[in-house]
Amino acid sequence: MNGSSFARLAVVISGRGRNLQALHAAIADGRIAARIVGVISNRADAEGLAFAGAAGLPCFVLPHVEYRDRASFDAALAAQLRELRADIVVLAGFMRILTADFVRSFEGRLLNIHPSLLPRHKGLDTHASALRDGDAEHGATVHFVTPELDGGPRVIQGKFTIGAHDDAARLAERVMMDVEQRIYPQAVAWMARRELRFEQGSVVFRGRPLLEPLSLHDLEPGF
Ligand code: GRF
Repeated sequence: MNGSSFARLAVVISGRGRNLQALHAAIADGRIAARIVGVISNRADAEGLAFAGAAGLPCFVLPHVEYRDRASFDAALAAQLRELRADIVVLAGFMRILTADFVRSFEGRLLNIHPSLLPRHKGLDTHASALRDGDAEHGATVHFVTPELDGGPRVIQGKFTIGAHDDAARLAERVMMDVEQRIYPQAVAWMARRELRFEQGSVVFRGRPLLEPLSLHDLEPGF
């Protein structure tokens, strides 16, 4: 971290930015000791940028279509993050696969949220896939990012029971509102306080290796 008591957070988005809004709210009311130093989107039309702009957050657009390949886009993203001196890089609905080189250079500082109970349902269409498989439970997972897609060590997972009337749209809503908007700000708050770390490939929480992901029961009051 940077010596000050506020972690420098960069939030990387592609879409609506509901996780960004939840993080911003948690910073505003003092639950996360951090400052958002930049919101970066690979799409100029990402709805989340409108929110970020209105909230006075510095916005940066790196349109992926303007880069000749994945490596050159990732190099530009890395350069932007370095310029921002980001301590923590929060992928929040960022819909691109990152190269292993990029991931390695930000190892331990890179968090992602995935809308499923990882390791179940990696990749896209997680809600439909949970229904198709007849899962009893569904939810979301915050994990450190490693070169394996959606495969990095899990930090916290929030789950709920799938109801008889849940379709994919309703599951998406429940995952976002009841789980993601709670567990992501909490995980970032722990990171900002350095209670959560990634050391030699493992998650360390309050000084001990985390063998199983934390759960909704571990949320602090307010999250
Ligand atoms: C979330 O469900 C997140 O898990 C997934 O994409 C969605 C992003 O939503 N990766 P938002 O942009 O934060 O509203």
